[in-house]
Amino acid sequence: MSTDEKANEVSAEVADQEPITPSSETEGSSHGAEGGAGGPIILFFIIGLIASLIVGWVIFPQLLYSQKKQPVDFNHVLHNEEVEDGCESCHFFREDGTYSGVPKLAQCIDCHEEVNGEDPEEEKFVNEYVAKEREVPWLIYSRQPQNVFFSHVAHVKMAQMDCVTCHGNIGESESLKAYEENRISGYSRDIWGRKYRRN
Ligand code: HEC
Ligand code: HEC
Ligand code: HEC
Repeated sequence: MSTDEKANEVSAEVADQEPITPSSETEGSSHGAEGGAGGPIILFFIIGLIASLIVGWVIFPQLLYSQKKQPVDFNHVLHNEEVEDGCESCHFFREDGTYSGVPKLAQCIDCHEEVNGEDPEEEKFVNEYVAKEREVPWLIYSRQPQNVFFSHVAHVKMAQMDCVTCHGNIGESESLKAYEENRISGYSRDIWGRKYRRN
């Protein structure tokens, strides 16, 4: 009997509470649209979709790639006018067919034994590297993963391909852009100079 009483009490409590819930619901629906919860759900879906697109397209790439500044800025346009053999003054094939790649200090010293101009980048270059005989640790945009062997002779000499095809217009740029490194793989983002080509 006592358990029945308790059950009755409980059901009475529930019954007491019952009116509360519907009344709050009616309050809610009186504010909302006639169609019930459909509107807000679609709205939440759209907000969620937009949020995930922003995360995927904007925020994630920014988190994935860290931006690094080149140690010294370098103006290709200015230098192409100063040198005699164009690109080959600095980027040339050695006698064994291997590619010299990025120039060493020795190729700069004739003109930069001391600071000649007003440019703060030249000052940095001369004081930090030339004077201390330290090679500039250039960041190579096109750097391939270690398991890739790439031959410039095959492409530039034999296939007669233009530098621009693979590297974009770095050779005609006035300033070096930030180097973007993939935080997970450590690879360069601009492995094919695409960013330059789009400009
Ligand atoms: C006075 C020397 C000099 C001359 C002339 C020169 N460059 Fe460069 N070049 C450099 C230096 C220094 C860098 C290193 C910057 C860097 O890490 O990208 C560089 C980098 C590059 C790179 C980037 C490689 C990479 O993936 O990081 C390309 C491509 C390039 N040069 C193409 C050219 C072309 C094309 C020409 C001729 C139109 C040219 N350069 C003329 C000195 C020179
Ligand atoms: C044929 C001569 C010559 C050679 C070779 C040369 N430079 Fe220059 N460089 C100049 C002149 C001229 C200027 C502009 C005046 C100045 O600032 O001294 C200049 C300016 C600069 C500047 C400041 C402007 C800029 O590019 O941002 C830097 C940095 C620089 N050179 C780096 C180098 C490096 C690195 C090398 C070797 C890969 C090199 N230069 C080879 C002649 C040369
Ligand atoms: C078929 C595509 C292709 C062509 C054409 C090409 N390159 Fe490259 N270049 C590459 C690749 C790929 C790398 C990276 C190689 C690596 O990481 O081992 C590279 C690397 C470089 C580097 C950096 C090398 C280093 O590690 O020091 C320079 C500088 C460069 N190229 C300049 C040039 C110039 C100048 C030309 C035109 C005469 C040219 N490239 C033509 C694909 C190309």
